[in-house]
Amino acid sequence: MKWREQILAAALCVAVLTGCLYVRTARDTSIRYVIGVSLANLREQWRLVLKNELEAEAARYESVRLVILDAAGDSRKQTEDVERLMSFGVDLLIVSPEDVEAVMPVIGKAHEHIPVIVLDRVAEGFDYSLFIGPDNGLIGRQAGEVVLELLREDKKEKGPVLELKTDSFANESRSGDFLKTISDAGVKHRSVYLPDATRDCAEDLLLARPELLKDTAVIFAQNDLMAYGAHLALEKLGIQGIRIVGLDGFSGEGGGLQMVEAGIIDATVTCPTGGSEAVRYAIDIINKESGIPKQIILRSHKIRTDNVSSYQKESERPRERGTVRVGYAQIEEESNWRKASIGSTREAARGADIDLVMEFNVLSIEKQKEQVRKFIAEDMDVIVISPLVAEGWQEILEAARAAHIPVLLIDRMISIDEELYTSYIGADFEEEGRRCARWLLQQTADMPAVSILELRGTDGASPAQGRKDGFESVIAGDDRCRIVHSACGDFNREGGAQIVRDYLAAGGWDIDVIFAHNDEMALGAIEVLKENKIQPGVDVKIISVDGTADALTALRKGEINCVVECNPLLGPELMKAIADLMQGKELPLRIITDEMVFTEDTEEMYFRNRKY
Ligand code: AHR
Repeated sequence: MKWREQILAAALCVAVLTGCLYVRTARDTSIRYVIGVSLANLREQWRLVLKNELEAEAARYESVRLVILDAAGDSRKQTEDVERLMSFGVDLLIVSPEDVEAVMPVIGKAHEHIPVIVLDRVAEGFDYSLFIGPDNGLIGRQAGEVVLELLREDKKEKGPVLELKTDSFANESRSGDFLKTISDAGVKHRSVYLPDATRDCAEDLLLARPELLKDTAVIFAQNDLMAYGAHLALEKLGIQGIRIVGLDGFSGEGGGLQMVEAGIIDATVTCPTGGSEAVRYAIDIINKESGIPKQIILRSHKIRTDNVSSYQKESERPRERGTVRVGYAQIEEESNWRKASIGSTREAARGADIDLVMEFNVLSIEKQKEQVRKFIAEDMDVIVISPLVAEGWQEILEAARAAHIPVLLIDRMISIDEELYTSYIGADFEEEGRRCARWLLQQTADMPAVSILELRGTDGASPAQGRKDGFESVIAGDDRCRIVHSACGDFNREGGAQIVRDYLAAGGWDIDVIFAHNDEMALGAIEVLKENKIQPGVDVKIISVDGTADALTALRKGEINCVVECNPLLGPELMKAIADLMQGKELPLRIITDEMVFTEDTEEMYFRNRKY
């Protein structure tokens, strides 16, 4: 028996012995990919839809087989399941954890040997290949916004609202933003916990405690099944006029979308499972394709009667083929990082059927908006923006939306409504800042006090703000660390040099650590330190972000101590996103790049074959 067949035969035995699922045939010799799947449970509707999606996507590929094990809501069993799947010799694991903290250690162990995709929820840290999941905070906020719309329509602005939920990770992580959104608007609310997120539980509870419904204006149930249970209870109690908002928004018989269409519930917020994306990325990962991100955050939608049918049609409509015209509003070439970013985009566009027009804004937001306006007037198929700063985009993005032109944000974020852009591709800047600070705390553990000089990137730019916030959030817990001076160096070499020059001119040198928001500013600072006989990397520790060739050379000379990578090679991921968009696929809300941390301990192989 060939080894592939042996894996499948072994998996089949275990699947039968453990009373769970799957496996197709052990005789199929065309199988090239065996993917082990460990699911938290098959009790909840969301998990069942996830399993169906995984299977449906896998069925599209002749050469893919899934081996699925059900942990039945028990983290100990899930740990054993992962070990068992590993012992079958699967090529890749997909894990949807029951309790992320409990299962993360075995995920980390598995990841030492094979790629692991984690679905739905993940712990901090990066012991996996790829995370795919929703933004629960955003879903909570969207549910809150829908509830506010309904209250306004019914002229019941103060509510009250009744929330039905269970004591689960997902419910709690949405609840915070949901309650904040409605209480900021002055809405009264009450939350009730159910033992299970089922239709029966919700219906029984409301029938047993009808007083919960007294004066209630809206019921928000944290899944569509509970929302349906609430609907049945209201019907039996003969109560009218209470609006119901659910969550999940599945298509098909009995799904949330159909319930909205039929007027059984008033609205739902979609919560995608990521099953199809997981299988697609699994194949790319096994095939060692380039540009695999670290995190895919899926988009959720507010669905009401007025958009439910257009939402369903929209999800399926491929756009016209032929050369795709893309207008890209870039930032000026202020750093080697950006030169690499521009090169990667141009090269990837050449390899795709894409007519790329790239404009540079020379550090002016007004100029950048003008370029976007021009792209709208030229009726580009897609507009790509690396936004210089995060604020000020509302009006122009509304214009792009009115013209039906999708907007992709790349490398930098903006701070407006997620509905005004199609996807963001780039780094998690806060995580970069946290990584810088974690290294600092480790390295200075024996110092009684740590004085920090911060070299900030362009004020108002999302990498500058994110890195600052992430860094400060970690050092906030340590009284020894203090940022004694912080100034903006605009992400360029001269800017970094000038901050150090000014600081030296203002008095003596009392700095233990320089935290530079990018390599260019760190390199500028190093030149001035050397001119002033202060040894960079020794007299003062230097932490920087990007990972450009010059910075890594400085790191290996001991002049920089820690470089947190920020990957500029986003071209392939951008072209893949454009291709998916043209095929009518929905893009993730955020595609977060894979990045590493360089220190003096980093193995030699990681310095080889770098492209920037
Ligand atoms: O937007 C990414 C940041 O901007 C990079 O860290 C920096 O080098 C760039 O210019």
